[in-house]
Amino acid sequence: MAGDGEIVKIGLLGRGTVGGAFADLVAERADAIATLTGKRPQVSGVLTSSTGDYDEILADADVIVELIGGLEPARDYVARALAAGKPVISANKALISTYGEQLFAASDDSGAPLLFEAAVAGVIPAIRVIEESLAGAHIDRVHGIVNGTTNYILTEMARNGLSYAEALGQAQALGYAEADPTADVGGGDAAAKMAILARLAFGVDVTLDQVTYEGIENITAADIAYAREFDLVLKLVGTAERINGGVSVRVFPAFLYPSHPLASVHGSFNAVTVESPSITEITMSGPGAGGIQTASAVLGDLVSILNDTPRVRGDGAPVEIVKDVESAFYLHLEVEDRPGVLAEIASALGDQDVSVRNFAQRTESAEGGSGQGTDEAARLVMVTHRTLESKFSAAVDQIAELSFVKAEPRVIRVIEEEFVD
Ligand code: HSE
Repeated sequence: MAGDGEIVKIGLLGRGTVGGAFADLVAERADAIATLTGKRPQVSGVLTSSTGDYDEILADADVIVELIGGLEPARDYVARALAAGKPVISANKALISTYGEQLFAASDDSGAPLLFEAAVAGVIPAIRVIEESLAGAHIDRVHGIVNGTTNYILTEMARNGLSYAEALGQAQALGYAEADPTADVGGGDAAAKMAILARLAFGVDVTLDQVTYEGIENITAADIAYAREFDLVLKLVGTAERINGGVSVRVFPAFLYPSHPLASVHGSFNAVTVESPSITEITMSGPGAGGIQTASAVLGDLVSILNDTPRVRGDGAPVEIVKDVESAFYLHLEVEDRPGVLAEIASALGDQDVSVRNFAQRTESAEGGSGQGTDEAARLVMVTHRTLESKFSAAVDQIAELSFVKAEPRVIRVIEEEFVD
């Protein structure tokens, strides 16, 4: 039997998809939480854009749950709650990735915890694992599929032949996308989450504006189809890694080989792979978007607070952000099919020390059939070995200028690591 438990009053900021699901979940799980913690959570006040007064809600609450998103007034509300010594739970990746340092300092000053498991990868306990379970590991690299909308879109395009627009419409209807899906498809949402993961994994002060990112708006069904020839799977991948004393944090569409743990993460699922010499790698996956899923992660943070086991964060150390990083690349060229073409392309790549790992040519006649001859077009698809991005870009710029190149070269990064057979 659940005990009554001491009432813990929650001031809920925001009652959208996640806020509404959270309020329902608190009511549904109150008995179980009372049994687990001896404390019974109860929503004592709700602030929406049209109802409620923050000062009154804050004065009455024991814990503030911020689910309004965006920077202001969320930053102001969270800072005031922490200054008042009240624990705060937030699912706001923009807020934490922009003002993390300032808010952690406020949390340290007052001793009131700030938890934000739901800000990254939905219900996956990535933050808890990085901060607690892997506290003894020196983490070198974190890869993540941390946006459910884009993973859903890419999966539907690859599996069911949906157009980009059709798949985006479905993701919105399912409640995965942000109110403005530009943040999803443009990579900004994933970039904010990777900034948070980098800060926690490496103990450094990384902010969203230091993350290089690109989205999936320009990905075509043809990119996905051509890459099948090399057995590659396309994902929007975030990477945070230590490089020569600095760190790089970036988000790009990237091809994965099938044996990479992230290659089999489909639909709206997210996954986070953590690499360290002492543990090799671990991958956590699960729903990364959706109201009830995100609300469940918020509730997990609430249980940590009720159990009085919140985490304490130090300041992030200053760090150099490395921009020019090594990667393997996929390059797709449309060229005239005549003697000397391949030699000139090879020469441009060779001049920049770019080495080709795989190569395929498909020849198409003007009518669309296959054959050979001087009036025909060829499609060249190759994957390089790892090379500095600046060198690869210089080679591609040179190739784009060649007279026989008929269309803008298409470039997509390739992640080479493979951990499982
Ligand atoms: N729009 C986000 C996504 C929701 O698609 O992953 C969770 O942050």
